[in-house]
Amino acid sequence: MKILITGSNGMLGHDLQEVLKDRHELILTTSKTLDITDKQHTIDFICDAKPDIVINSAAYTDVDGCEENQDVAYAVNGEGVKNLALACRQVDCPLVHISTDYVFDGTARDPIDEDGQIGPISVYGKSKLEGEKAIQEILDKFFIVRTAWLYGINGKNFPKTMLELAENHSEITVVYDEVGTPTYTPDLAEGIAKLIETDYYGIYHLTNSGSCSWCEFSRYIFEVAELDVKVIPVTASEFARPAPRPSYSVLNNKNWIEKGFKPLRSYKEAIKEYIELIK
Ligand SMILES: NC(=O)c1ccc[n+]([C@@H]2O[C@H](COP(=O)([O-])OP(=O)(O)OC[C@H]3O[C@@H](n4cnc5c(N)ncnc54)[C@H](OP(=O)(O)O)[C@@H]3O)[C@@H](O)[C@H]2O)c1
Repeated sequence: MKILITGSNGMLGHDLQEVLKDRHELILTTSKTLDITDKQHTIDFICDAKPDIVINSAAYTDVDGCEENQDVAYAVNGEGVKNLALACRQVDCPLVHISTDYVFDGTARDPIDEDGQIGPISVYGKSKLEGEKAIQEILDKFFIVRTAWLYGINGKNFPKTMLELAENHSEITVVYDEVGTPTYTPDLAEGIAKLIETDYYGIYHLTNSGSCSWCEFSRYIFEVAELDVKVIPVTASEFARPAPRPSYSVLNNKNWIEKGFKPLRSYKEAIKEYIELIK
């Protein structure tokens, strides 16, 4: 297939390239070559390229930055996604879009199904939800893949920050009242590669298996990396950040499993591989 990837310089974008490059023809775009907020350029570019499928891994992902730069958040995560959907409709190709657990409000106490009650509490979550809605209004053929707590080789992420802090801190304070599922971008990219071989369109929750708090995750990271760091649990309100986060956003990968796919491996296995790779 001819696959056009947006945001190909990003953390997930890099792994999508790795996973897909030997199986498909890739058209790789970045914010420089295809700024998705530019409606006419986006439509013209996609009409010229005539891809069989578009994967949108472009987004404004700075969750705290979104609170301050709301215009950018809605332009990229809302309008930009709408522009892609309009372009895909013109060339009649499916759109794969990556969304987030932050479209939920955090009040659930059990893993959340794809049709669970939506209610974003941050600008990032609200802007990502706008993108989801635009796709559903414009296209019939789409995969919206909600994922969570991403980390990978090519980007800023929580495990990397923890390991960097450990270089000159013997004690680190970490939030314990936010629970989710850390997800390794190569695993997610493999999942997306499987999904696009099908026409099982719809909304998917796709994360590694299991769940933990940030605090538990950091303790596990230090255990695996064999680092002697004391983790001091704090509440999200003690660890003030501009954007509120859902206190619970574990995603039930229900649709994925029901379609016959194997659950992604546990987050514990995945982080072990990651630490092995970067140390
Ligand atoms: N990171 C997480 O924890 C997480 C969790 C759940 C869901 N997600 C979602 O997963 C997807 C991938 O996330 P990620 O962490 O891999 O993101 P990332 O590393 O921040 O990469 C995002 C990419 O989007 C590009 N971009 C920004 N504005 C653009 C524009 N106007 N036009 C075209 N490209 C633009 C950036 O390009 P430049 O670098 O060239 O500006 C960047 O390479 C996103 O949809 C995100 O919302 C992420």
